[in-house]
Amino acid sequence: MGRARPVPKPIPSPNIWHWPDVYAVENAAQDVDGAIWTALRELAPFAGRDVVDVGCGEGFHLPVFAAEAASVVGVEPHPPLVRRARARGLDVREGSAERLPLADASVDVVHARTAYFFGPGCEPGLAEAERVMRPGGVLVVVDLDATVPPYGEWMRADLPRYDPLAAERFFARQGFTMQRIRTTWRFPDRRTCEKVLRIEFSAAVAERAIAAVDGVELPVGYRLHVRRAGLHLQ
Ligand SMILES: C[S@@+](CC[C@H](N)C(=O)[O-])C[C@H]1O[C@@H](n2cnc3c(N)ncnc32)[C@H](O)[C@@H]1O
Repeated sequence: MGRARPVPKPIPSPNIWHWPDVYAVENAAQDVDGAIWTALRELAPFAGRDVVDVGCGEGFHLPVFAAEAASVVGVEPHPPLVRRARARGLDVREGSAERLPLADASVDVVHARTAYFFGPGCEPGLAEAERVMRPGGVLVVVDLDATVPPYGEWMRADLPRYDPLAAERFFARQGFTMQRIRTTWRFPDRRTCEKVLRIEFSAAVAERAIAAVDGVELPVGYRLHVRRAGLHLQ
């Protein structure tokens, strides 16, 4: 009998793991003009398709997919978030990018937003996405663009070893195209803005960010990396 493969540990996500309520408010404040959704509809059309959202957290983005997709399922490794998503009536399965609880060739769109696919090291998840996609499927990775100030500067202040350009080169080598997206985050009030910045950054960087944000809006850059199923084999 074969030995079971060890289950890889999830990548720690302190913001959503420790402060899920604040993270939900953060999600609502992100990309208020829907620039990411506009790009997704163009680059990874999901209307009438079967979609999986990998590392879906509490499933914040699932209802947007569900409104147009044929089906949408979330996959999330952190059990409290799986429970939270299910309590909201969402179809979320416990699993991880490296081990998707989905059959071979069963989805058309694999979407992951600020989850797991951060650059070198995510190859097992890339292979898993290929396994579950049908021919013609598309894998789309949405991540924060740490080259764009001011948010990107705060990220790099807390993650001095993270090299955003190395991450971009990695995805390019893996056969992805890349598009930069400019978004606006808009909070309902200053207090919420400060609470969110405090769950995203170390105390010192959060104070710097709070001092730098004038009002309740800030520009935040994202990268969209897109690859068609099987493209990396050509
Ligand atoms: C910053 S949160 C983003 C959640 C969600 N995508 C959203 O936009 O609201 C990152 C998520 O990735 C999950 N995660 C961590 N390791 C993972 C893995 N190996 N595979 C899939 N998801 C993972 C975390 O548990 C967390 O829910």
